[in-house]
Amino acid sequence: MAAVSLAGRRVLLIVSGGIAAYKALELVRLLRRDGCAVTSVLTAGGARFVTALSLQALTEAPVHSEIFSLTEESEMGHIQLSRAADLVVVAPASADILAKMAAGLADDLASTLLLATDKPVLVAPAMNVRMWQHAATRANMALLAARGVAVAGPEDGAMACNEYGPGRLAEPPAILAAIAALLAPAPRPLAGRHVLVTSGPTLEPIDPVRYLANRSSGRQGHAIAAALAALGARVTLVSGPVAIADPPGVELRRVETAAAMLAACETALPADAAVCAAAVADWRVAATAGHKLKKVPGGAPPALALVPNPDILATLAAPGPRRPRLVIGFAAETEDVVAHAADKRRRKGCDWIVANDVSEAGGAMGGRENEVHLLTDAGIEHWPRAAKEEVARRLAARIAAALT
Ligand SMILES: Cc1cc2nc3c(=O)[nH]c(=O)nc-3n(C[C@H](O)[C@H](O)[C@H](O)COP(=O)(O)O)c2cc1C
Repeated sequence: MAAVSLAGRRVLLIVSGGIAAYKALELVRLLRRDGCAVTSVLTAGGARFVTALSLQALTEAPVHSEIFSLTEESEMGHIQLSRAADLVVVAPASADILAKMAAGLADDLASTLLLATDKPVLVAPAMNVRMWQHAATRANMALLAARGVAVAGPEDGAMACNEYGPGRLAEPPAILAAIAALLAPAPRPLAGRHVLVTSGPTLEPIDPVRYLANRSSGRQGHAIAAALAALGARVTLVSGPVAIADPPGVELRRVETAAAMLAACETALPADAAVCAAAVADWRVAATAGHKLKKVPGGAPPALALVPNPDILATLAAPGPRRPRLVIGFAAETEDVVAHAADKRRRKGCDWIVANDVSEAGGAMGGRENEVHLLTDAGIEHWPRAAKEEVARRLAARIAAALT
């Protein structure tokens, strides 16, 4: 039996073409034994290894194979099929279907469902060891993992092709355990907590049409807000102008200037924690022109006098009754990253600093990945380069541990 009850849960099982397809039948048997409803999709390759009849008998439901099936389209529809389950499982997952998933192809029912689904996806790869180790498959797997696709196996062992190594389908009880883990209710250690997150750049007007800005995309801050919300926190996200999607499940306050960001943060208090990931402009123009500055032929360019902006991190971290229990700052540095970050932590009075090197063009600032150092009272940790979503999940887990 799976440790988590699967009664009443629904799995969409895609069986693709590999010698291990027969083990999908055992997986269906285990899922059905545990009360899980299974709808199956058989690829053209899969149908060369197991029959629709076997799958239909074990799932006690029709098997879907054709994308251009008028009956199925009128009764079910491929989009609906992709959404009607709690989890999509590809077992076995052939090298071919993994490549289609990575490339976003939709040339048969299985690949179309995988592109159309809004549900979590688990793949259980099975293939010859050389296919598994090929650079193309490695790159496809890395891409799928970065997109949040869960993976069960493969295992090491003797293969049907008389070779030995990784590539064997995980055993059905192991795939069942991975399914149960994904269907378990997500832990919500931050339920009842309020976390304030800042994200994105600030824009500091020069005149009605021009402004000072920076390259922050908001990706890291938005991912942190989403990761905290996923752990059950009530999240207020105060964001400067960004071109990315609003994260799900957060209260978003849009601002432009540092002054507006500080005001929105203060309004959002009290909070149990504050994560200041926004790239707040250090300076603003001393006197914003009320009209567009004109180019005077032969004249000198206007001199922009700058004045310091309010320091949002230092303000939130200052001792007082409304200070969040945990205040976390971000340090974007181009040299001596850790030394400057340690200095910033002392100066600002915050509890933790997440330091990243932004010297590389297209790197942390504006990019999709981040390599950071976490500075706390306990010391300095180096977190290896990872997708910003992964850095966010790790930081959210640490925040949850600190607040509970
Ligand atoms: C006997 C035989 C065994 C195969 N076993 C595998 C396998 O274990 N894994 C795999 O990725 N492909 C395997 N293939 C190749 C796939 O069946 C082929 O790539 C097919 O196009 C996959 O189609 P699908 O991904 O749409 O199901 C095998 C082919 C044959 C003829």
